Amino acid sequence: MKEANITVPILAAQYNELDANDRKLIDTAREATTRSYAPYSRFRVGAAILLDNGEIVAGSNQENAAFPSGLCAERTAAFYAHSRYPDAKFLTIAIAAIGTDGQEIPAPIAPCGACRQSLLEYETLAGHDVRVLLAGRNEIFLIPGIRHLLPVTFSEF
Ligand code: THU
Repeated sequence: MKEANITVPILAAQYNELDANDRKLIDTAREATTRSYAPYSRFRVGAAILLDNGEIVAGSNQENAAFPSGLCAERTAAFYAHSRYPDAKFLTIAIAAIGTDGQEIPAPIAPCGACRQSLLEYETLAGHDVRVLLAGRNEIFLIPGIRHLLPVTFSEF
């Protein structure tokens, strides 16, 4: 038998250590939290995706009285980005969240499993890693590719 261990590369940074493009994407994700529709959880999430055509597409979580019918911010943004610009490749996604206390969450949140699966498909389509920026009040995590968040994955193609 052979053992394999998987490690996830995560860089923790401060906002002012990031370059202007990454700061802008985080600003856009933070701004998108204000358009969240979260009357049930009161947890507002924003996501912003930079495409290789220079466009930034943002989305927020959209909830529903029938809970499973809602959608996370990441998939709202990703599905809109790919339906609006089907030929553009994803470069980077930034995610931010406002907690139930109305403040930005101190430590970053990471995308749920279903979002990881969806995002991974767009990374595969892009043919290169899609960077992930997870914004918290105290620090920002940089992960160099979606694939690191979903190792040993399901794929049909
Ligand atoms: N949510 C997101 O939008 N993204 C995540 O990564 C985790 C959770 C949303 C779903 C729901 O509307 C609320 O946050 C609470 O779970």
